[in-house]
Amino acid sequence: MDPRRRIDELSRQLLHHQSLYYVKARPEISDREYDRLLEELLQWEKRFPDLAWENSPSRRVGSDLDNSLLERPHTVEVLSLDKEYDPEGLKNWVAKMMDRFGQATEFSVEEKLDGASLVLYYRKGQLETALTRGDGFRGNDVTENLRTIATVPLIIPFERELAVRGEVFMLKSDFSTYNRGLDNRYTSPRNLAAGSLRQLKSSLVARVPLKFHGYEAHMESGFGPEASLFGPFLLDSDHVARMILLRELGFSGPGTMGFFSEDRSRRAAARDLLPGLVTGTLDKIGEFIESMRMERAGLDHEIDGLVVKINKIGLREELGSTSHHPRWAVAFKFDAPKASSTLLGVQIQVGRNGRVTPVAELEPVTLAGSVVSRATLHNQEYIDALELGIGDRVSVSRRGDVIPAVDEVLEKNRASSPVFRLPEACPFCSTTLVREGAHHFCPNRNCPERQCRSLIHFTARGQMDIESLGEKTIRLLYERGYVKRIPDIYRFDYQRLSEEPGFKEKKIEAIRSGVKASMEQPFSRVLLALGIEGIGAAAIRLLLANGFSSMDAIITAAEAGDSDGFARIHGFGEVTARNLVAFFSNVENRHMIRDLSESGLRMISDPQPVASGNTLDGTVWVITGSFDRFVPRSKAADEIALRGGRVSASITSRTTHLLAGRSPGSKLARAREGNVEVVNEEEFLSMLWGEE
Ligand code: IVH
Repeated sequence: MDPRRRIDELSRQLLHHQSLYYVKARPEISDREYDRLLEELLQWEKRFPDLAWENSPSRRVGSDLDNSLLERPHTVEVLSLDKEYDPEGLKNWVAKMMDRFGQATEFSVEEKLDGASLVLYYRKGQLETALTRGDGFRGNDVTENLRTIATVPLIIPFERELAVRGEVFMLKSDFSTYNRGLDNRYTSPRNLAAGSLRQLKSSLVARVPLKFHGYEAHMESGFGPEASLFGPFLLDSDHVARMILLRELGFSGPGTMGFFSEDRSRRAAARDLLPGLVTGTLDKIGEFIESMRMERAGLDHEIDGLVVKINKIGLREELGSTSHHPRWAVAFKFDAPKASSTLLGVQIQVGRNGRVTPVAELEPVTLAGSVVSRATLHNQEYIDALELGIGDRVSVSRRGDVIPAVDEVLEKNRASSPVFRLPEACPFCSTTLVREGAHHFCPNRNCPERQCRSLIHFTARGQMDIESLGEKTIRLLYERGYVKRIPDIYRFDYQRLSEEPGFKEKKIEAIRSGVKASMEQPFSRVLLALGIEGIGAAAIRLLLANGFSSMDAIITAAEAGDSDGFARIHGFGEVTARNLVAFFSNVENRHMIRDLSESGLRMISDPQPVASGNTLDGTVWVITGSFDRFVPRSKAADEIALRGGRVSASITSRTTHLLAGRSPGSKLARAREGNVEVVNEEEFLSMLWGEE
């Protein structure tokens, strides 16, 4: 018999019978007959593995066969969760919720189970269907497989329609025992659970020790307060009540759970009704999360983080959701997304203050949805600690939105290239680098890269904000020798750019007017744009608030070598003070400031208006995102009201300003569409200070 023909024939027959049996529920052959065909196919495939179909019906993992699992629409919304990797980010989210809802805010914090997400639909007390998450609108019908899981109640004493969202997973201990007996082993309990669920033969699933935990219950509202089974918690208004209901109905889960509320009696009631529940006031959430992080390794099931949810259903509805995730919950993930890549080379960056930063050039890899080809390596110490060499296989991660970093070496390169060493000399000016602390510096003030970086910093957004002078144009101006130092920006005749390719009259005019407009920037921006080491917006605010409100005042103090005067400013460190003195005592810097002053840049802070002046008269504000200086956010609203402005909740045709903090959400896009001025926290502070 021709092996290829027989394998093809058997595969075709088996696929046909699988579909009849599992999808259409109309088998044409007996189980024994089916098993005999399958056994024969397995034998052939064993002898001629190369001839086996990629989608062979003998394959245990269902993914390639998913399409033969029936697809059905979900009747509840099946969203994902927004993710947060950074504890600070989570703290901000919690603060944002408390800011908005005050004392009424209550949170439930649950284990984020790492398994396969499912929705179980019950009608008239019977399990009707179980669908995988699918694309959120349609999922695969895995009802038969799910029925084999002992922890899933098939009949429940609950007449109304109920949808239970939860996770199918496997205990770690069960996994190691069960997996050992398999020919094709799975790499994790999660993959085994998800794979089993998609098995086409539920008799096989029955042998797998799967578990199910429910963590959300959807039901029509209208129970009213009479559902007193749940103490102060109502099915209509509390997630906690729904979790209690799930337990009453015989579901297990969701593992260790926390309930955080300012109301002591509600905390006590929740503990009574959900044995094992951890409770606390709102400020205890962080501690709970940390303790769960510590406990994670000791648990017998895998969790990849925690889910923080608003408890009150009413507030959930008010917050609503995006097309992808609800705004009332956040998944805090313990591990930042990781990817592996190969180190192709190391680029040396030199900043405006001379600091050398090695940057990894990586084989492009997708990490949390975006392609990464560069990652920071910080400094030589960091490279040494990793023992990193070119060609090494590395693991790269990203926390929140920060720059990706190389975390560890996974595999040394075969060419045995040694641990990477920073060059002895600056790659841009050949000056010998010097080491200070963990970092290397190019000490040459005239290093072309340092100078270019100073110019780029000066014109950038947040500083002088000359949009028409971007990095590319600046580098060109520098290379041509047109703009070498900062004051040249205000002296160069930009008409000369017309000799350069790509510079039409319109573009040149945009640069000219951008440069001119920048001369109106307040003194605080000029100071910031100089890029003095350690002198950021916060330090500048302190300087101005402490009487150093003009360049002259600062220079006079610096001339007297008065670093003590600066250091006495509350919140100012000694190092910052010394940096200031050093910068302003330097002759070249003084010349630069003189030249800028001659060009007409502001060297004095405008007198500050009294706080009650109606400087924001006629303005209508919407506030979104979170802030450093305004916690709770209502503080910003108070400042606006104090100055005669109005604050409203949503953007309308009357809105004049959007105060946008971190994670501003959809309001930012809406503001940009309309004629609304978007103001960030820095700019807002300047407005309050009356400098603009
Ligand atoms: S709540 C829309 N709670 O994490 C909110 N999800 O994207 C519904 N998950 O797809 C989900 N444990 O599969 C919730 N305690 C928990 C969870 C949890 C695990 C999964 C769920 C979801 C994914 C995040």
